[in-house]
Amino acid sequence: GKRIPKDRGIDNSLKIMKEGYEYVPSRMKKFNTNIFETNVLGGKTAVVISGKNAAELFYDNDKTERKGTLPKRVVKTLFGKGAIHTTAGKTHLDRKALFMSLMTDENLAYLRKLTRNYWFQNIENMQYQRKVNVYNESTLLLTKIGLRWAGIVENPDNINKMADDMNKMIDSFSAIGSLYGGYREAKKARARVEQFLEDQIVATRKGKIHPEKGTALYEFSHWKDMNGKPMDARLCAIDLMNVIRPLVAINKFVSFGVLALHEFPGERIRVALNEDDYAYKFVQEVRRYYPFVPFLPGKAKENITFEGYKIKKDTMMVLDVYGTLHRDDLFSEPDRFNPYRFDVWDGSPFDLIPQGGGDYYTNHRCAGEWMTIIIMEETMKFFANEISYNVPPQDFTVDTTKFPGKVASGMDIEDIKVNIDRT
Ligand code: HEM
Repeated sequence: GKRIPKDRGIDNSLKIMKEGYEYVPSRMKKFNTNIFETNVLGGKTAVVISGKNAAELFYDNDKTERKGTLPKRVVKTLFGKGAIHTTAGKTHLDRKALFMSLMTDENLAYLRKLTRNYWFQNIENMQYQRKVNVYNESTLLLTKIGLRWAGIVENPDNINKMADDMNKMIDSFSAIGSLYGGYREAKKARARVEQFLEDQIVATRKGKIHPEKGTALYEFSHWKDMNGKPMDARLCAIDLMNVIRPLVAINKFVSFGVLALHEFPGERIRVALNEDDYAYKFVQEVRRYYPFVPFLPGKAKENITFEGYKIKKDTMMVLDVYGTLHRDDLFSEPDRFNPYRFDVWDGSPFDLIPQGGGDYYTNHRCAGEWMTIIIMEETMKFFANEISYNVPPQDFTVDTTKFPGKVASGMDIEDIKVNIDRT
C-alpha cells in the first residue's frame, strides 16, 4: 500500500480547535488526497477520510466500528450515558427500530402541522418583542414543538428553563475543548431534564398520565426489548431526550436558513413561491452549505484498504463530514449557495451527509433527518411568506474556523408584520 500522508505534530488537537471546520479540508487539499493521518487527543493516531468512498467505508458495519469511539465528554453532555449512539450490533438494531417506528406518515404530518401552527401562533408574541433573535426564539419554539410532538405536557411556567437547558446541552459541544464551566453547566442541565423525562415515563407506566398511542412518550415507556424487557427508566429517559434535544438543535439550521433568505438574492421569493418543491431544495442546501457537524469518529474493525492505502485494525478513523459536503467532485461550485443543485441529485446515502450517512435502520445515521427536513421546510416557508420583517445591521459572520458553527449575531430581525400580501 501507499504511505498515508501525515500532518506532523505530536498532538494536533489545538490546531484543530484553532482551524475549526477548515482543518480537515485544507489538509486534504494540501496532500491532494482523500486520506491523511494526524495525532489527536493526547497523541492518538487518527486517520481522516473524505468523500463518497469514505462514507461508504465508514458505514460498512463489517469494516468500521463505532462503539466506544465517541469522546466521553460528548457522551456525558450531549447524548447521555448508554444512549443509542453508543450501542452496536443487535442492541443497536433493536433500539433503532423503536426510534424509526415513530417516523410514520401520520406522525410526520403531525410534526409539519405543529411546526406551522406554533410559528403562526407566535407572530403576535414576536410583534410584541419588536426585535427578535431568531436563534433564541426558535430554541423556545422548538422546545415546545418537540415536547408536544413527543406527547409530553410541560408546565408552561417552566418552558423557558427547559429551553435553556436544551441549549446548554447542545452548546456543550463547544465546551469540549476549554470551557470547563460550560461542560459542568451542561451536565447539570442534562441531569434536570433526564429527571423530568424519567418522571414522565414512570407516571406513564403507572397509568397516572395518558400520552397518546404513537407518541414518543407512550411508545418508549411501553416498549419491550428483544428479550421482552422494558427499558430501565433512566435509560428510557436518555433515549427519549435523544428525540427532543436534537430537535431543538434545529435552531442552528433555522438561523442559518433565515440568514440565507436574507443574504442570497432571490432566495426569499423563491421559497415563498415554492415552485417545484423549492423549499425542500433550499433546506437541503442549508444543511449542506453551513457548518454544523464537522466529523464523526470510528475505528477500523479489521485491516482495511481505502483507495490503495492500508488502515490497520483498531486505528481511529474519522469521517470528514463538513469537507465531504464541500467537495467539488460531489457538489459543483461547492462554495456557492445553490438549491437548484438538488434538481439533479440522485439521493445517494453517501454524499449529502450532514446528519450522517448509510442506512437509517442498520447504521447510526440520524433517526431525525426526515423530521429535520420537515421542520425546516415549514419554518423557512413561514419566514419567507407568512411574515415580513426588517433585518437590522448586525454581525452576519459564520466563522468556519470556530466550533460550533453559528451566525455570530444569532440572526436578529425586527418590525415583524403579518404578510397579508403573501404568495
Ligand atoms: C444521530 C445530526 C436532528 C435523533 C445523528 C448523527 C448525526 C446527527 C451526525 C450521528 C450519525 C452517525 O453517528 O453516523 C443531526 C443534526 C440534526 C439532527 C445536524 C439537526 C439539528 C435530529 C432529530 C432527531 C435526531 C430532530 C429526533 C429524532 C437522532 C438519533 C441519533 C442521531 C436518535 C442516533 C442514531 C443511531 O445511533 O442509530 N444525528 N441530527 N436527530 N440523531 Fe440526529
